[in-house]
Amino acid sequence: MSNPSPSSSRIAEILRAGQPDETVAVCGWVRTKRELKKFAFVEINDGSSMANLQVVLDPELPSYTDLLKQIQTGASVEIVGQLVESPAKGQRLEMKASNVTVVGESDGETYPLQKKRHSFEFLRTIAHLRSRTNTLGAVFRVRNAASNAIHEFFQERGFMWVHTPILTASDCEGAGEMLGVTSLDLANLPKTDKGAIDYGQDFFGKPAYLTVSGQLEAEVMAMAFSNVYTFGPTFRAENSNTSRHLAEFWMVEPEMAFCDLVGDMDLAEAFLKYIFSAVLEQCPEDMEFFNKRIDDTVLDRARNIIDSGFERVTYTKAIEILEKADRKFEYPVEWGTDLQSEHERYLAEEFFKKPTVVYDYPIGIKAFYMRANDDGKTVAAMDVLAPGIGEIIGGSQREERLDDLTKRIEAQGLDVADYWWYLDLRRYGSVPHAGFGLGFERLVQFLTGMGNIRDVIPFPRAPLSIDF
Ligand code: 4AD
Ligand code: MG
Repeated sequence: MSNPSPSSSRIAEILRAGQPDETVAVCGWVRTKRELKKFAFVEINDGSSMANLQVVLDPELPSYTDLLKQIQTGASVEIVGQLVESPAKGQRLEMKASNVTVVGESDGETYPLQKKRHSFEFLRTIAHLRSRTNTLGAVFRVRNAASNAIHEFFQERGFMWVHTPILTASDCEGAGEMLGVTSLDLANLPKTDKGAIDYGQDFFGKPAYLTVSGQLEAEVMAMAFSNVYTFGPTFRAENSNTSRHLAEFWMVEPEMAFCDLVGDMDLAEAFLKYIFSAVLEQCPEDMEFFNKRIDDTVLDRARNIIDSGFERVTYTKAIEILEKADRKFEYPVEWGTDLQSEHERYLAEEFFKKPTVVYDYPIGIKAFYMRANDDGKTVAAMDVLAPGIGEIIGGSQREERLDDLTKRIEAQGLDVADYWWYLDLRRYGSVPHAGFGLGFERLVQFLTGMGNIRDVIPFPRAPLSIDF
């Protein structure tokens, strides 16, 4: 193996701005090779774009026959050559190789990515190689562009990025879906006099978990910096094997002091619009690809999101709409119960045909921190429902009144003592505040039209699935 040239160019840049006659070096992986009588064509991809660079190999090249044997699908290569106008359709330039180095060989026979369409199920079994396919390549480029747009959106608006802990002792959502973290010997657990597990001997001296949300700590930071956001991994031991749930997913959680639910909904709408326009602008080829190959509504939907306002409807009104719907739902519709995915999708996809914000949910089905409305029956919560996906954002105005919050924590059977620091925020300079959480993988699904959430994160974690 030789060291790749540090001065090599990225293929996306060559295809965009390269000029005929220019000599360049590229490094990448062989996607295909075609041997003709007079020369051979090799397609190289380096992940910078969906398009490959077509390289023409001439028999004049030193050790041409050996080289062709070495250049197999999946091999890594460094090629120096001259750019020439391409006679082939669909590409402006190709490269005439003058020097080819095979950096790492590949056995083309056993290479799992053959030149045919593989199912996404199969590709999940080779997650270490699937990023080299067109679809997953496009997904991860879009994921990157969306991540960048998220930071830009908040930074431009003066929000501070704060880092909230992954290990925690508190259950933010109070839903009991936390994955435990321990250093105790599971085969030999220490017990208390009463026969319970003695967490006093565990690493933190009490039960610890992977966080389900950074919100509580984001609230702490918002009470000092006014507007903040988190962007990090969160974990849920939900045993739902669905196309929208992961056990490890990334969440974006803005939190704003001196803000109410309307301000929260306004931010969510501006936020989604911003990300969609940024991704359309930065990844036009990838987005075209999704529209052509995955879901032919991707581009219309994106433009629709950017151009038109979201629908806003109370939970009570949403229930009325669902009750009148001329179709039978699997789960019954009744005021006071949570909306199921089929209900959410009916509202956004069929009834309003655009992203729909449902707000003022029944107090009984929502988390303890959401602010009680004056009607005594609902809380200032809002969910953004996306066509084709359902809930993509969940947020609320927070309960800033000490007494009300204490009662809510008690009512949900949680231990008030565990939340002493959270309650302190209501003792010292409490303010109305609000925020939301965006499920980042659901956003990437929404952007790309990908049907299964496991195909929009490089290494999906789900029940019974933690390889790679
Ligand atoms: O609605 P959720 O549970 O809200 C919270 O966690 C709040 N603490 C957020 C806040 O107000 N700061 O989760 C927020 C979003 C959901 O709307 C959904 O998009 C996503 O996180 N989500 C999941 N994504 C993938 N897999 C899962 N298991 C998810 N659970 C929630
Ligand atoms: Mg939710």
